[in-house]
Amino acid sequence: MIASGTLRRLLLLLFVSIVFASSSAWAQSGKKEYQPRVGQGGKDVIWVPTPQPLVEKMLDAAKVTPKDYVIDLGSGDGRTVITAAKRGAKALGIEYNPDMVELSKRNAAKEQVSDKASFVKADLFEADLSPATVITMFLLPDINLRLRPKILNLKPGTRIVSNSFTMGDWTADDTVVVKEGCVSYCTAYLWIVPAKVEGSWQLPDGELTLTQTYQMISGTLNRGGDVVPIANGKVNGDRITFNAGGALYTGRVTSNGMEGTISTGGEWKATHGG
Ligand SMILES: C[S@@+](CC[C@H](N)C(=O)[O-])C[C@H]1O[C@@H](n2cnc3c(N)ncnc32)[C@H](O)[C@@H]1O
Repeated sequence: MIASGTLRRLLLLLFVSIVFASSSAWAQSGKKEYQPRVGQGGKDVIWVPTPQPLVEKMLDAAKVTPKDYVIDLGSGDGRTVITAAKRGAKALGIEYNPDMVELSKRNAAKEQVSDKASFVKADLFEADLSPATVITMFLLPDINLRLRPKILNLKPGTRIVSNSFTMGDWTADDTVVVKEGCVSYCTAYLWIVPAKVEGSWQLPDGELTLTQTYQMISGTLNRGGDVVPIANGKVNGDRITFNAGGALYTGRVTSNGMEGTISTGGEWKATHGG
């Protein structure tokens, strides 16, 4: 039988030799843990990390919950993906630089969110964005514009949050600013992918004709031959609202049409056509 003092000494010796063996193997391999440099080149954009307070604000703006699937385009050191995962969401980082991908995986492991945070080495222009409910990015204005057609074809209601850079003439639905603890790149923009409603819609007693510019809608409502212009028309994901003839119409766009309620009483329903 080994005395307990001897056993302790043996275990300590074993531990020290494991640490020594692994550190000398590390030294022999000549490898140091990869250290990214702010401003280092990237395929289409250099790496500059989003300040952590803005990461938090961006996820707040998108109202990220554990039900979300967040994709960060050009995920850098993984901070946005890891922060989303800490909020319980599933999150994926798409990053072209393989060293940054490996660094992100290590960072996710340190934060114990590897089950929710994944990273792939890929080109953001080729990525399948369709599973996302939230897309985050810190890219460049011209890249946002190149991505815009693909983004507008995503599921209505998908939230897009961009650090610092806008989407051309697609006005943001919200803007958030970090005033404390942030020196540069402290503003982010939110867009909600609108349902497509442009065209003519049949009502039981008339027709709704809509023109759409992103989330803004204008047009006319014809009910029983009485044609009135629509005002303050807006699509927020699959929600539609507009004023017509002194009433507020609110409703939901579905695969079959639109339906909702009228502030002056009653319901409305419209189907594609005309
Ligand atoms: C400004 S940094 C933003 C990093 C991170 N999203 C953040 O907010 O902290 C842009 C990142 O995009 C990556 N990148 C550049 N072009 C890319 C491309 N075509 N596909 C995927 N990643 C790309 C860069 O390597 C860099 O890490």
